[in-house]
Order: sequence, then C-alpha cells, then structure tokens
Amino acid sequence: MPIIETKHLYKHFDGVRAVDHLSVAFEKGQITSVVGPNGSGKSTLVNLLTGMIPVDGGEIVVAGSVRFTKIKSHEVKDYGITRTFQDVRLFEQMPVLDNVLVVLTERGVFASLFEKHSPYHLEKAEEVLRRVGLWGKRHELALGLSYGQRKLLEIARVLATDADTILLDEPFAGLFPEMLKVVVDICKELKVKGKTLILIEHNMDLIRELSDHIYVLDAGKLLAEGKPQSVLARRDVIEAYLGE
Ligand SMILES: Nc1ncnc2c1ncn2[C@@H]1O[C@H](COP(=O)(O)OP(=O)(O)O)[C@@H](O)[C@H]1O
Ligand SMILES: [Mg+2]
Repeated sequence: MPIIETKHLYKHFDGVRAVDHLSVAFEKGQITSVVGPNGSGKSTLVNLLTGMIPVDGGEIVVAGSVRFTKIKSHEVKDYGITRTFQDVRLFEQMPVLDNVLVVLTERGVFASLFEKHSPYHLEKAEEVLRRVGLWGKRHELALGLSYGQRKLLEIARVLATDADTILLDEPFAGLFPEMLKVVVDICKELKVKGKTLILIEHNMDLIRELSDHIYVLDAGKLLAEGKPQSVLARRDVIEAYLGE
C-alpha cells in the first residue's frame, strides 16, 4: 500500500506548470527516487507533499485515507512525515546540539532554550549526532559549520524525529565522499528499519544503488517510472537530461 499518493496533483507559478497533473505513489518501506532536470518540479512536489505551499489542484492521499488539499506544514509531522530542504535550514544562532534538541522536544525555539532537557532527549541527541559524526561539534553554532556538516546536521535532525516517512531533497549534493558515504549508509539503515524514503537526487549511480522505484519528471509531468536500471536506460529519459 502506498504511504503517500498524489492524484492529478497540480501547482503553477504565474503560468509555469511546476507540477502538472502528477499521479505518483510512494510505497511503504521502499526507497522511491524522484529525478529530472533542473526546474522539472521535484522540489515543488516535496513542498506540496509537506504542506509548505498550497495545492492548486488534485489531491494528496496519505495512508490510503487522509486526503489533503489544504494540509498545513506543522500538521505534517502528525502523520509521521518529515523532510530536509535543498537549501539547508537550521537555527543558525544555536549550537549544533540545540538544533537537534529543538526537534526532540518540539516546543519551539524559546521553550527549548530554557528547558532542562531530560536524559532521554540528551541521549537521543547524542545518538543521532554521533551517527553523522557531529558529536564533537555539539557546542559550535550552526552558522559556523561547513556546507557538508550542515547537511549532516539536517540529517541528524531528521533521524531525531523518528518519522516513518522521510523526504530528502538532494541530500548528497555537494558532499565529499566520506560524508556522502555516511548519508548513503543512513538511507540503507532507514530502509532496513522499515522507513519509507522519498529521495530527490541527481547522482545516477546513487539512484541505481538505492532506489526500489523511480519517477522521472520533465516540466512537471511524469516522463517515466519503474525500476531504476530500465528507466535510466530509456532514450527519452537520457535525452531529457542531455537537454539541460
Ligand atoms: N516559489 C516559486 N515562485 C515562482 N516559480 C517557482 C517557485 N518555485 C518553483 N518555481 C518554478 O517551478 C518550476 C519547478 O521548480 P522546482 O520544483 O524547484 O524544480 P526542481 O526542484 O526540479 O529543480 C521551475 O520553473 C521554477 O522556476
Ligand atoms: Mg529542487
């Protein structure tokens, strides 16, 4: 059963059909990748699925029954859905550790700053920061981190939520090989744990390695779908990329 499904989902920006009557399904416990040239609507799709922007048409069906045409972004987590951003979003003026604690306590920035954290929250924060290799940086401000470290911190924040459905918007872009391997391994671990992953990615080798199923978008429309090996070998798919 798909955990999230879209039906004729539609979104336009001043005449640009960013997502154009798109019907896709994300199966529970699988890694599904969404690929396509720049501007093909991938981030818009993630924004629609997480209530960041309003839907113009069609619908989003979660767990087979809840229908969203007007989901709000703060409600999304109630359905076990979380995401990362292509342009990493952190609390810049807060230490690395607090960036994770805010997610764990869900009390907002001010409350969590003054709250005495439970041993459970601190333990969980340590676990996820160690997993991405940032425990040693826990007292540094987020704004002082390198680009790759920022992406790793965002992954740590996702891990801290314990969400069942995780949307990753270009999590590997710009990472050095060592950091990239950490994120690839985390994706594999999440799959073993039964989590559902929706992956936006450009690196075709990683798509082949990780995905159970892929969707190829072109100008907001579905160009192709299926197993990565066969879809990525298709001529029209290769041409869509060459046309970039
Ligand atoms: N907030 C916005 N305002 C206006 N146009 C937008 C906005 N977000 C996306 N678009 C346009 O929608 C199309 C799809 O963009 P996007 O979803 O970011 O593509 P991708 O993530 O595949 O690169 C592009 O033409 C882009 O310029
Ligand atoms: Mg994008």
